[in-house]
Amino acid sequence: MPKYVAGAVLVVLVIFSSVAITIVGGSTYMNEIPKTELAIEKEKMLGHSAWTIHDPWMRGDDAPTLAGKGKKIFIREGCWWCHTLLPEQTQDWTYFGEPPVAGDVQGEAPSLFGSDRKAPDLLHIASRNRVKAWHYVHHRDPRAVTPGSIMPAFTHLTDHELDAIIAYLDTLK
Ligand code: HEC
Repeated sequence: MPKYVAGAVLVVLVIFSSVAITIVGGSTYMNEIPKTELAIEKEKMLGHSAWTIHDPWMRGDDAPTLAGKGKKIFIREGCWWCHTLLPEQTQDWTYFGEPPVAGDVQGEAPSLFGSDRKAPDLLHIASRNRVKAWHYVHHRDPRAVTPGSIMPAFTHLTDHELDAIIAYLDTLK
């Protein structure tokens, strides 16, 4: 066999075995982390929490609970584009609350950590503001309650969709 064929076969083997080890090893490790009580409670509130390709919710069916529907709308409307659900582990603790531990997000997908925060972190929003009327007004017209806010006015959402978003925010304690 020419050397370059043997070399090519070896490269392909190394790539495939690395990918296989990562998939098997990675998922096994993740499955070993037990869900915290918070994760179990959230799973109940959202109806379920894990995304898979077989998941009817993610294929377009409606979520089983109002808060679960709110999470879907949160994703659809791109709230995560500005808001993270992951306070940083330093000075954020004092205002935004503690970051999640691994077991809090075990099995949850997507976890909506976000990648770049342009607006307040929302992981513990229900611990600092559970006033539904405030959230209604704020979503319809953010500048009515927070002058100068850059948050878009979500006037196109129906009352039911707003109910769902607010139910979802209420799970973030
Ligand atoms: C373009 C960026 C942007 C988007 C998109 C956005 N927001 Fe905001 N949001 C902000 C900013 C900035 C603030 C802080 C000023 C204010 O209170 O309006 C804020 C504040 C909030 C607050 C109050 C936070 C606090 O700590 O008091 C909530 C709740 C909220 N947004 C929810 C949402 C939801 C739900 C969506 C999606 C439907 C959304 N936001 C989309 C920028 C955004």
